[in-house]
Amino acid sequence: MKVTRFFSTLLSLLLFSFITTDIKAQVFESKNFKNGLVVTADKYASEIGNEILMQGGNAVDAAVAVQFALAVTLPRAGNIGGGGFMVIRLADGETAALDFREKAPEKATRDMYVRNGEFKSDLSWEGILAVGVPGTVDGMIKALERYGKLPLDLVLQPAIKLAREGYKLSYSHAESLNNHKDTFKKYQVSAEYFTKKDDTEFKEGDLFVQEDLANTLERIARFGREGFYAGPVADAIVNEMERYRGLITYNDLYNYESQWRDPVEVEFKDYTLHIMSPPSSGSIAIAQILNMINDHPLEEMGHNSADYVHLVSEAMRRAFADRSYYLGDPDFVNVPVSELISEEYNDTRMENFSTDTVTSSASLSHGEIAGFVESDETTHFSVVDSEGNAVAVTTTLNGSFGSHVSVSGAGFLLNNEMDDFSAQPGEPNAYGLIGAEANAIEPGKRMLSSMTPTIVTKNNRVDMVLGAAGGPRIITATLQSFLNRAVFDMRPQQSTAFPRFHHQWLPDMLFIDDFGLSPDTQNLLQEKGHSIFPMPGIGRAHNIYVEPDGSYSSGVDPRGDGYAAGH
Ligand code: DON
Repeated sequence: MKVTRFFSTLLSLLLFSFITTDIKAQVFESKNFKNGLVVTADKYASEIGNEILMQGGNAVDAAVAVQFALAVTLPRAGNIGGGGFMVIRLADGETAALDFREKAPEKATRDMYVRNGEFKSDLSWEGILAVGVPGTVDGMIKALERYGKLPLDLVLQPAIKLAREGYKLSYSHAESLNNHKDTFKKYQVSAEYFTKKDDTEFKEGDLFVQEDLANTLERIARFGREGFYAGPVADAIVNEMERYRGLITYNDLYNYESQWRDPVEVEFKDYTLHIMSPPSSGSIAIAQILNMINDHPLEEMGHNSADYVHLVSEAMRRAFADRSYYLGDPDFVNVPVSELISEEYNDTRMENFSTDTVTSSASLSHGEIAGFVESDETTHFSVVDSEGNAVAVTTTLNGSFGSHVSVSGAGFLLNNEMDDFSAQPGEPNAYGLIGAEANAIEPGKRMLSSMTPTIVTKNNRVDMVLGAAGGPRIITATLQSFLNRAVFDMRPQQSTAFPRFHHQWLPDMLFIDDFGLSPDTQNLLQEKGHSIFPMPGIGRAHNIYVEPDGSYSSGVDPRGDGYAAGH
């Protein structure tokens, strides 16, 4: 059942590639900007971020403005009803990581998706039971309070204006709404908000107005977190729970708190990567993969040569096998971070690596750590400012338009993040990912994530701001956005656009960008035993790279319809 859903996720990606075909022409030749740059999945949001920078805001002010703008202009992923992660690097060297990931409601139970003894995977994917307690609003307010220069009401103004006055739908905005029409119609409020009254299709250029969302954003601007987690917006969320028999209570909302965490630091060549720590799995996986490939002559192998793809994908395979066993919410389970990312451990993981043949996933499980006690839509954006501060944010409702349940009177969609738990340990989720006890559902626990916002420094200065959308492909896309520059010295746009590959242990397949590897390389990989699966879009990355003169260049992914705005 879930495997079917995994392949249907792949199919929707295929569809997404058709939607964005006309946009692929917009491959930006990256320009250098001296004073600030914002790269997001959406033109309106990038321009808003850039305007906030020009009004004297810093990178955190701009990032918060972008997050709220995306909630208006990219309802399939941008959100106030979801969550995400933010990594911050200040010019003075301070780094911080903010976890505003959703949490399981207090009433959540292990068997909440079991009916008549049977596990119903669709319940964790669509509808009210899929919803985790949203974290975005608390996260944005915390980030702004600690690091911002501008007041909350000011950074919210552009999003409020766009929601109140409307914005023009792009081709891909319109198509994504049209593609989900049938699902929206199952939920009366979502049908009101996200389908046309006369049942016709949205078209490019239609004005999209969201009055109720504007009012909610205004409440947040006036009352801060109380404007969302209490009062009329909380009432409206709880009403939806009552309408469809959901689990989230006033207490869940009121008690939600985002968490400051320490980013994981990974050294590679002259670079230090500062990556979101668990409950994101990206930092551990990237650290492991870099450790496993470190001693090999990557540059000599050649970019995307069969030997290179084989080595890196074998490392990916091992890191994802560990991900599925060891990783979960660090507030609930013991995640052996330092052991997993250590050189010794990763050396042992590669002991059975062969340059000639694959290590089948069936023969490979997680590694052994002594003393360990088991206790199709996201969006990434990158921001830098004139002072040298940098912010990387990845945020999501999980699937496109999340649970498809909207909050009546409040104008926004709720996430379907509960599917990121191993809702049934051992069963694959919508991304084909297998999980174990460490990521099992528990009340108040955060579900494991692949979102991997990353800031890379060199000689103590920001060098790259990286991240992507795309489920587990986020991790491998971010890794390749880094390696393309760090090892192969590619230019920013090339680093971001070049064909990528992905392995996640199970299913045992080597996914490649469908415009990707040459037939010869594919033959050589097949000879080593790889099952190759071409697919549209191994992640959608929105990166910033710092040039040797200190100016900023964008890496806008041609796989999506991203946009860079700078000055
Ligand atoms: O947190 C995660 O890993 C997933 N909820 C991300 C989902 C995603 O990236 C969907 N696609 N673009």
